[in-house]
Amino acid sequence: MADVRWGLLSTADINKDLIPAIRASERGTLVAVASRTQETADAYARKWEIPTAFGSYEAMLGSDQIDAVYIGLPNHLHAEWTIKALQSGKHVLCEKPVALTTDEVDSMIAAKNKSGLVLAEAFMYRHHPQTKLATQWIMDGRLGDVSFVRAVHTYKMLLRDGNIRLTPEFGGGSMWDVGVYPLSFVQLIMGGPPERVSAEQFVSATGVDEVFTGQLFYADGKLAQISSSFINPSHTLAEVFGTEGRLSLNRPFVRMDADRQMFFHAADGTSQEIDVPETRLYLGEVEDMNAAILDGTPSFLTLEESRNHVRTTVALYEAARTGKIVTL
Ligand SMILES: NC(=O)c1ccc[n+]([C@@H]2O[C@H](COP(=O)([O-])OP(=O)(O)OC[C@H]3O[C@@H](n4cnc5c(N)ncnc54)[C@H](OP(=O)(O)O)[C@@H]3O)[C@@H](O)[C@H]2O)c1
Repeated sequence: MADVRWGLLSTADINKDLIPAIRASERGTLVAVASRTQETADAYARKWEIPTAFGSYEAMLGSDQIDAVYIGLPNHLHAEWTIKALQSGKHVLCEKPVALTTDEVDSMIAAKNKSGLVLAEAFMYRHHPQTKLATQWIMDGRLGDVSFVRAVHTYKMLLRDGNIRLTPEFGGGSMWDVGVYPLSFVQLIMGGPPERVSAEQFVSATGVDEVFTGQLFYADGKLAQISSSFINPSHTLAEVFGTEGRLSLNRPFVRMDADRQMFFHAADGTSQEIDVPETRLYLGEVEDMNAAILDGTPSFLTLEESRNHVRTTVALYEAARTGKIVTL
């Protein structure tokens, strides 16, 4: 296979970030888009200059022009269409959250294993140099022992009419939408899921959590706090507290390639800014898929990590709903 031939499964808004990334990737080519109607697919293909437009998702999955699909569907459709795509012989890059239950994730992993194809969750920030640099600083022991992490992702949702994030049955809610970023960061630093969680949420008239906070308790005594919201101005932040200092990541999860900063505040009161090389944010996940497909390189983000994101999010929602501590 010379290049990976990519197809977009849906005309989702998020495609606008993936299209330039696929086109900028060294060994990826964007060849098609599929939509539930031919009219939408045609108009979208014209606008974005995509060679082929399919009038149904099934038609794209049945085509031998496509090697890999990018799934940017509403959250409740991720598992269904990932499994269909794998069964049709297509590699899959699926948006976060990869699914809404661990049973769904297990079915996706089973379909991936049966097909021998590549399946990865699209967590773009995990591929960014800032995340990798932060992880390296912590692994090198520069913070001493990490005891506490806090991370936040908020934004004010302005386009509310018909927004998939406000529909409970679609896997709506701020925790599923953007809370999974802080959660994934915490899991990366802590090395796995917590032992138990507690949580609180504000559920608005929409029926979904528009503000969510969770506490995570680890078997070795470490702690973490995460927050997400649809009603506060856009903000992302992550801080890792060690016995020798604090690492502070300004804008760790943002979609724009701009103004990322990282600081180390040492125990002696001094602070230093750590240079963060900038890259095109969504390129890393596409290059990672291309390498996994063409070279057989293991995916950078493992499905075990993705399963733990879902497992912990489900536990956090249960804790928020019941007001009880939930053990994983
Ligand atoms: N990684 C990131 O930075 C990032 C950012 C934003 C969103 N996301 C993720 O990407 C996914 C899509 O988000 P989005 O904001 O791009 O969504 P969106 O604009 O609402 O697009 C969702 C697409 O799904 C298709 N669809 C199929 N069944 C549908 C249904 N019953 N209702 C509505 N749409 C349906 C539609 O495409 P057709 O009409 O063409 O069939 C629609 O365009 C979500 O999982 C979200 O978490 C990730």
